[in-house]
Amino acid sequence: MRIRLRVGAALAAAALIAVPATTAAPAQAAADPVSKLVRAVSGQQAKAHLYALQAIASLTGGTRVDGSRGFELSRDYVATLLKAAGYQVSTQKFQFEDTDFKVTPTFERVSPNRHAYARGLDFYEAAGTGTGAVTGTLQGVDLTIPPPAEANTSTSGCEAADFAGFTPGNWALIQRGTCPFTQKVANAEAAGATGVVIMNEGQPTRDGVIRPDLTSDPAGVPVIGVEYLIGEEFAKTPGTTVKAAIDLEQVTTTYDSYNVLAETKGGNKDNVVVVGGHLDSVKEGPGINDNGSGAAAILEVALKLARTKPDNAVRFAFWGGEEFGLLGAEHYVSSLSEEEKARIGLYLNFDMIASPNYKYAVYDGDGDAFGTPGPAGSAEIEKAFQDFYEKRTAGSVPTAFDGRSDYGPFIAVGIPAGGVFTGAEGRKTEGEAQMYGGKEGGRYDPCYHQKCDTIRNISDTALNVNTRAVAAVTATYAFGEALNGIHQPAAARPNVSARTAKTVDFPHPAPIAS
Ligand code: BES
Ligand code: ZN
Repeated sequence: MRIRLRVGAALAAAALIAVPATTAAPAQAAADPVSKLVRAVSGQQAKAHLYALQAIASLTGGTRVDGSRGFELSRDYVATLLKAAGYQVSTQKFQFEDTDFKVTPTFERVSPNRHAYARGLDFYEAAGTGTGAVTGTLQGVDLTIPPPAEANTSTSGCEAADFAGFTPGNWALIQRGTCPFTQKVANAEAAGATGVVIMNEGQPTRDGVIRPDLTSDPAGVPVIGVEYLIGEEFAKTPGTTVKAAIDLEQVTTTYDSYNVLAETKGGNKDNVVVVGGHLDSVKEGPGINDNGSGAAAILEVALKLARTKPDNAVRFAFWGGEEFGLLGAEHYVSSLSEEEKARIGLYLNFDMIASPNYKYAVYDGDGDAFGTPGPAGSAEIEKAFQDFYEKRTAGSVPTAFDGRSDYGPFIAVGIPAGGVFTGAEGRKTEGEAQMYGGKEGGRYDPCYHQKCDTIRNISDTALNVNTRAVAAVTATYAFGEALNGIHQPAAARPNVSARTAKTVDFPHPAPIAS
């Protein structure tokens, strides 16, 4: 430590001596607008915005979902700061209807050790499930644990004979594979099961939580889909008793929502850099990582960029309605004229950028990792983010450019896009744990879409690095020539029908039949 301090002091002294000794221009790094903005922003300032969003939620009932006071106050918070910083700010109002359960389904382990599972992370009720509050002891049915080497080969529950030793009144624990879920559930009901848990099969791409689709032959008993790991734990703990409470009564609500847009007064308006993220949370919680984190970083970058004179116009966007199906971004894009769309050079999206068990993941704009490239220019944007992480971290990993966030409506009309993501319901791989530390096999964000997505659900390290990533790539395209290299004329942008628009089902994940 002492040696380092001495070296540091020596360097500082050398710098002091060197500066008056030279008449040359200041070092290149200091003059470069990209590094200047990267240095001007900080994770601490972004965190201050997150404290504000948390306070807003805490004072208004714990959520910032559309239609809540928490969302309106979030909107006013960002709009007020952006106006004060000199931006042209507008709010775009839109309405939508959503139909949802009156009472959210629950699923718990009663014994051993009572544990409430998290809907969306650990389980979903099947589409076409039966209803009621039902408790029962789980009984495994022809399970293969560990999973069969070949995917989609488990035949658990496909034959009536699988239930030969089944005790009527128990819950059936069934593994995904081979035949439709309806067939497995019909066999279970015929054997006297009072409830069914369907676990995923367990191979690497068949391990997450599933939403079984029974709508072609609805069940008479509660049916719950779970990720493989939870099913495995049940299978290894004979006598496990579970309880589901499902009431399918629904209610349709009309929501008012808003997008907040803030644009630089200067810069080339024919070459606009749009930088956005969603401001709404789910109803379950305050949404501090999802997506207070993206919104806070964008806000911090906007406030610091306000002191500069970018070559291109920059438009910051805070979307509403994302959690109901990308509705704010969709409303915005569909409200643009062809000319207005053609003036947008690119779109940068930031959704969940400070997950507690983070990875530094970059949207796969060139499609080399997930096979679905974005519009021309998206590959260059991916590269810009990769370069940033290459310089400052152990590097980046790719993440699917599959439309699960607000860039979807932009790429659907041919606008190149990119962004970063630190992980949601998925689990950290061994390689990622080697790169970034953290918990191998643990969820990136154990509070994804939950009540516990609070100010405590933030990695300060990831927030700091990623606030600077937002600054770096925003500045890369706001200043200089980089955007000219990828801005496509309108005619060169295939329309929605001509390209594979990456739209994602709402709700996500979509129910699956087998
Ligand atoms: N930030 C989340 C989810 C997410 C996960 C984004 C992985 C990017 C990669 C986002 O707010 C969200 O919940 N999206 C919905 C999809 C949408 C169509 C409602 C989802 O994934 O359920
Ligand atoms: Zn999100």
